[in-house]
Amino acid sequence: MTIQEELNATVRELVQPGKGILAADESHPTIAKRFKAVGVESSEQKRREYRSLIFSAAGLGESVSGVILFEETLGQNSLDDVPMPRLLASQGIVPGIKVDKGKQPLVNAPGDEITVGLDGLEDRLEIYKNQGARFAKWRNVFHISDILPSRQAVEANAEVLARYAAICQSLGIVPIVEPEVLIDGNHTIERSADVSGEVLREVFHALYRHKVELTQMILKPSMVTPGQESPKASPEEVATATLKVFQRVVPAAVPGIFFLSGGQTPEEATANLNAMNSQGPQPWALSFSYGRALQEPAQKAWAGNLDNGPDAQAAMLKRARLNGAARAGTYRP
Ligand code: 13P
Repeated sequence: MTIQEELNATVRELVQPGKGILAADESHPTIAKRFKAVGVESSEQKRREYRSLIFSAAGLGESVSGVILFEETLGQNSLDDVPMPRLLASQGIVPGIKVDKGKQPLVNAPGDEITVGLDGLEDRLEIYKNQGARFAKWRNVFHISDILPSRQAVEANAEVLARYAAICQSLGIVPIVEPEVLIDGNHTIERSADVSGEVLREVFHALYRHKVELTQMILKPSMVTPGQESPKASPEEVATATLKVFQRVVPAAVPGIFFLSGGQTPEEATANLNAMNSQGPQPWALSFSYGRALQEPAQKAWAGNLDNGPDAQAAMLKRARLNGAARAGTYRP
């Protein structure tokens, strides 16, 4: 296959109707936080055990088209001693890999951050591709306050995201472009809409500058919602505000917008996606790329004990199926 054929085939598989992406790419500190919440101390063995369990849930591939892995998991074997990428492929699921190296303060922009990891990215991508990864993810974050994010942060982060995406495509890896406008704070839904619009405009301008092929990428944004400390908006309000921004800024050439859950409860994340897909046809597929909203119930059910494996798998499948239904606007709580 040529690189173009590889990119097209991967995009086609990822955006299949009724399916979305499972983000299981938590870094060591993040997975330690999630495990601690269910009374489990994070270790290589526990991470392998838990991830092996959820990836081998029978039928997962009916509602999950891709899984984003952390580097450690890409090289691990399942409990049945099958390489994790091979286990996923046997479920009809495309393996992907988180490739950014996290964020740090953006110098001379107090409160803003920048994501790092471009140095040596080509070499790492070659290795990941040999291990079975066919798509990648890179996340940049934007904080909202009365004055954040600064123009400096909006521009610098967009530039980095576009450079990452261009490098991925040159190697036949589909980039998931993730500009996350954080939910933290007490802002209004209107402020979230303004910031999301500004961030996305800048991201697409940078993607254009770096000649990224829009038909061969996936956008992974946050939904437009009020801040976590503000009164909640209904799914219809979230859907209307989100679509209003995206219809004005995201080119129709982008095949899929796969939202992150970003601190929404599993039920909210499903209801909000469902409300968007109930508002009639859009130029792009609207799907999910959830971490917490897909895994929280499974992690609770597992609680570090393999005897709870069947319950954890059932909880995982349930959320995956409900979000698969939300993809078509047919989810009923
Ligand atoms: P959440 O859905 O938990 O926000 O995670 C998605 C993700 O991959 C963040 O980078």
